[in-house]
Amino acid sequence: MAVNGKLTMILLVSLATFGCLILSVECYSDGAPTEVCEDMLPKHGAPAQTGPSPYTLTLNRKSVKPGESVTLTLAAKDSGKFKGFLVQARDSTGSPIGSFMPLPASKTNNEFKGKWKLLSCPKGPANNTATHVNSIEKSRVILTWIAPKNLSQSFKFLYTVAKNGGEYWVGIETESISVTK
Ligand SMILES: *[C@@H]1O[C@H](CO)[C@@H](O)[C@H](O)[C@H]1NC(C)=O
Ligand SMILES: *[C@@H]1O[C@H](CO)[C@@H](O)[C@H](O)[C@H]1NC(C)=O
Repeated sequence: MAVNGKLTMILLVSLATFGCLILSVECYSDGAPTEVCEDMLPKHGAPAQTGPSPYTLTLNRKSVKPGESVTLTLAAKDSGKFKGFLVQARDSTGSPIGSFMPLPASKTNNEFKGKWKLLSCPKGPANNTATHVNSIEKSRVILTWIAPKNLSQSFKFLYTVAKNGGEYWVGIETESISVTK
């Protein structure tokens, strides 16, 4: 993963994990969090973990058709929990692709209600990134992602998970996901 991308992920997760806890109104009331939150970075962010991630991101399909919806499950491997996360699909150039659904796949499932919000990161379509809205400990999150209509090349999901403010895994990549024509 490119250094730039990694830095972006670190930045976003730091903002979401630290800054937004303190100044949640400013962070969440606006659709442009990367700019709005810039000055709220913690002065001493802990370095990212380098060991294997204790979290997994699994898809309900191995291959994706253009425009198709995909269910993603972000979970801890050993009944562990996490506070923050950020998930994004990227094409081979590193640009975010596809969009997340604003609501859980099952609107009646309260387990997932209000656990994430969507960001529109640069160089991608609206709502291309999902992130947590609060630091309540979660054991899993289920997201719905819609593949772009012009999907033509295999891609990956990248995810960052924060166990807590000081312990997080940044920019973990899924296996490459192929496209069904
Ligand atoms: C993006 O998500 C917001 C809710 O977070 C929703 O209101 C909006 O319609 C979505 N935009 C698109 C283009 O899907
Ligand atoms: C797919 O469409 C989007 C938006 O319309 C565009 O930005 C992107 O470059 C297209 N990707 C490909 C692979 O054609």
